[in-house]
Amino acid sequence: NRILHIVVAAGSGRRFGAELPKQFHLIGERPALMLAVDAMRRFGCGGTVVTVLNPDYIGYWTEVCVSAGFDPGPIVAGGSTRWESVKNAVDAYGADADIITVHDGARPLVGRCVVEAVVAAVASGAKGAVPVVALSDSIRHVGADGSSKAVDRAAYVAVQTPQGFSGMEFRQAYGMPYSPAFTDDASVMEAAGYDVSLVEGSPINIKVTNPSDIAIAELLLRQCND
Ligand code: C5P
Repeated sequence: NRILHIVVAAGSGRRFGAELPKQFHLIGERPALMLAVDAMRRFGCGGTVVTVLNPDYIGYWTEVCVSAGFDPGPIVAGGSTRWESVKNAVDAYGADADIITVHDGARPLVGRCVVEAVVAAVASGAKGAVPVVALSDSIRHVGADGSSKAVDRAAYVAVQTPQGFSGMEFRQAYGMPYSPAFTDDASVMEAAGYDVSLVEGSPINIKVTNPSDIAIAELLLRQCND
């Protein structure tokens, strides 16, 4: 199997509120993105790892990697939506991949079990596989008028990355028009008519979204390395 791993890191990190986008912040000694790329390289069953960056940060990232002695691997310029960023990477490097995964550059703590489960599910025939975890907070549905209503938490799961897909179907799904409803790649595949299987994610595989997540990620990383 030819495997392509796409690490998307072209977002502005606006929710994070800092000058430097969240994926470049240090978790311990290394930037979140470097940990994410390194994890996909180590656990990704041998595929190529491509990083998607905002064009304004390609020079910055290259310098960070060079001074850390880290090979950044191939870099692709991202777009104004996550969908466009993924599409650019698929167009540039995905033409002959049998399996394509997409991982958030802001998930630095992904472990071997999750990556291998995703790749294995696709290798054994799933068109798509996404890691999920149970929700720990109670969940409410908020309507357009601001009114809210409790929903059954057990009927929902939270979706992580990496998400893995069969290359041919993934290229076809990304050949279809963009919809603002696409927040991840499973939603793109589903819109093209493909089912997505669920595999077990990990509570450690957090997405660094708020500044407090940096401190949490540092603690988890230290625990993982102990
Ligand atoms: O904003 P959110 O946390 O959902 O973004 C998920 C991932 O998609 C992040 O790693 C972000 O850098 C990436 N992204 C991207 N290009 C965009 C927007 C987001 O690569 N235009």
